Amino acid sequence: MGQQQSIVDDDTPPQVLDERSLAAVADYIKSGQARRIVVMTGAGISTAAGIPDFRSPETGLYSNLARLNLPEPEAVFDLHFFRGNPVPFYVLARELYPGNFHPTVSHVFLSLLASKGLLYQLFTQNIDCLERAAGVPDSLIVEAHGSFATQRCINCRTPYPDDLMRDHVSRAEVPKCRKPRCGGIIKPDIVFFHEGLPEAFFAKRSMAADADLVIVMGTSLTVHPFASLPDEVPDDVPRLLFNLEKVGSLGGRADDVLVLEDCDTGVRKLADALGWREELEAEWRRVVGDEEADRQIQGSKKREAELLAEVERLADRVDDALHLQD
Ligand code: OAD
Repeated sequence: MGQQQSIVDDDTPPQVLDERSLAAVADYIKSGQARRIVVMTGAGISTAAGIPDFRSPETGLYSNLARLNLPEPEAVFDLHFFRGNPVPFYVLARELYPGNFHPTVSHVFLSLLASKGLLYQLFTQNIDCLERAAGVPDSLIVEAHGSFATQRCINCRTPYPDDLMRDHVSRAEVPKCRKPRCGGIIKPDIVFFHEGLPEAFFAKRSMAADADLVIVMGTSLTVHPFASLPDEVPDDVPRLLFNLEKVGSLGGRADDVLVLEDCDTGVRKLADALGWREELEAEWRRVVGDEEADRQIQGSKKREAELLAEVERLADRVDDALHLQD
């Protein structure tokens, strides 16, 4: 099935799975042995929705911001930089704000796991809220890097109303604290560099150790502490990776299965093997509608061109904002 790989020696047999393959993972789930599935996601599960990821060489946000006059591309999400110049962030926020994009088949696969009572916990680094939009219950989601759902002043921490925030973001304007004599900049409760992760991440990270199956999807596993979560899973728990490339320690254990292709394709193969494919496609179309579903399944080449156009447009807007500040 596809490009399944492992870097474990072929002579090392799996300990739990019958073999290192997607079919064997499906059998493991069907046998009822995987009742606590922990999923860890990143930007790669949303690229098919049209949202650029961060680190893909051509279509990633950071490689496109690299040509701008920023100290480094990550500065847009850096608290120190934001204090001095929040405009580039708000230019991006207008484009990336929840509601502009729709879930992928991978997001809906997660809601299917939840509705079947198999999703123990989802840890996401994404701020696009597409897991929620797909129907994954809030209680099963840890938004490890925060989200756009709430916002507050970076000085006095006073919360700021949602409707005013939406208005400002839609105009790419920087909202300021309404408290008398404060006037600090308002920031969504997204985790920036130099900020701690939400309490929920630390309260729930031990659930990774209780999993009986772990699925890692669409993340480069470069930003800690999230990146070390898959390593907290015991050695005898199968780990399945859906990603374009090998990442972290995945592939180094006897029961690691790597599916190195786009995650929607991999997820569809898993759904086929589980006998859930029809249900998955029907639920996805119900959530996003036929037009969006057809848009997403058009050829991956066209999708890459669209992503490239989107990320170049975003970078140009940030560039304009930087020049306006000059
Ligand atoms: P990255 O951009 O670092 O990694 C995305 C991964 O997904 C890469 O390994 C890609 O190869 C892969 N990928 C892209 N499209 C894919 C597809 N359709 N199917 C499968 N794989 C695909 O994004 P994250 O790992 O999410 O933090 O980045 C982690 C954090 O870095 C983000 O949360 C953000 C960023 O700085 C903050 O802003 C705090």
